Amino acid sequence: MARTATSPASFGVALGPASKQQSPDEVRAAWAEAFRRVRAETEARAAPLSPEDQQIQSMADASPAKWHRAHVTWFFEQFLLRPHDPGYKIFDERFPFLFNSYYVAAGPRQARPQRGMITRPNAADVTAYRAHVDEAVVRLIESVPAGDAARVFSILEIGLHHEQQHQELLLTDILHAFAQNPTDPVYDAQWRLPPLSQAQGFAEVTSGIEPVGHEGHGFCFDNELPRHDELIAKLRIARGLVTNGEWLEFIDAGGYATPSLWLSDGWAAVEAEGWEAPGHWRREESGWTQMTLAGRRTVDPQGPVLHVSYYEADAFARFAGKHLPSEAEWEVAARAGLIDDAFGIAWQWTRSAYLSYPGYRAAEGALGEYNGKFMVSQMVLRGSSVATPMGHERVSYRNFFYPPARWQFSGVRLAEFD
Ligand SMILES: [Fe+2]
Repeated sequence: MARTATSPASFGVALGPASKQQSPDEVRAAWAEAFRRVRAETEARAAPLSPEDQQIQSMADASPAKWHRAHVTWFFEQFLLRPHDPGYKIFDERFPFLFNSYYVAAGPRQARPQRGMITRPNAADVTAYRAHVDEAVVRLIESVPAGDAARVFSILEIGLHHEQQHQELLLTDILHAFAQNPTDPVYDAQWRLPPLSQAQGFAEVTSGIEPVGHEGHGFCFDNELPRHDELIAKLRIARGLVTNGEWLEFIDAGGYATPSLWLSDGWAAVEAEGWEAPGHWRREESGWTQMTLAGRRTVDPQGPVLHVSYYEADAFARFAGKHLPSEAEWEVAARAGLIDDAFGIAWQWTRSAYLSYPGYRAAEGALGEYNGKFMVSQMVLRGSSVATPMGHERVSYRNFFYPPARWQFSGVRLAEFD
């Protein structure tokens, strides 16, 4: 599913000077450190949550924090330990059913919308499960025969990137749950969005045939390959992200009540869901507030709009007389350094359907289900968000969600054409 085993560098673990050949023991130590760091980040993100917080599933698309902590652990057990550690003793034979997500080849599983029904194992049991697997993985890293090391480290690397993806979901899912709570719970009182760059205007992208997709030797998911050429038409792409202030103009102009601005499916969603503002917004007598990880806050007109669906992003672009960039246009502009706030604030919807690149092949076996089978009916988002773990982002990274989804930190960057 990924390219060949690379290095733990993307997890912030240095392997030493590139010129120096690493000893096998140094490589093992670096992977063990990368594993510990990623696992610790998950627990740090779960730490502010009580066992009750960890249990809740506020909608079918979201999962309990406890489930995330267990599922990423099952991933290592299923794909790393069981095939590659002959001495591994499974922690609990019932857990694979509970914590398999969507891997049909890995066996039957609890239905996704019913993940929140599982009160046992409890949060402490999941902590014990994590400790059991942590110990086994570190032992495997330290003892795997040299001939198997490349394969083991390759699967380990996928597992770490996978866990990072769930670290982001853990936050967006608990934010959605807290947003349903009339008492406006605070996840972290110190939580803040990074400031926007204040970039104004549009940058010109010249027409041409441009390479798109992952290059180089670092890790990527299979959906970022093969690197290939795309024909880019001349466009101008916004240097910055759409702000809440701009979105308030859309609201005040009746954007949510004007069917001509919306795709047919989008308008159906507006009517069915009663949308009148981005996700987690609420109209108060004093104005709009939005639920954040620091609790409920007044909407900041200077801040980036967050928690909008593809349908809303598309309608806003039409309202503004603009377009959304395609994912290829976004990548070309980002590689050229033409856009600000590409990473670390809000995923940016593109007008590109999530499809395979020319010549794409999913990996063999169960891990081939990771990305490829979702390549229909979803739209691509580019960049990364405030909830994306450090080191997880890439210019070729392709995130994807269904068009109505808006519980992620999803925002908007505009483009315009002649
Ligand atoms: Fe997963």
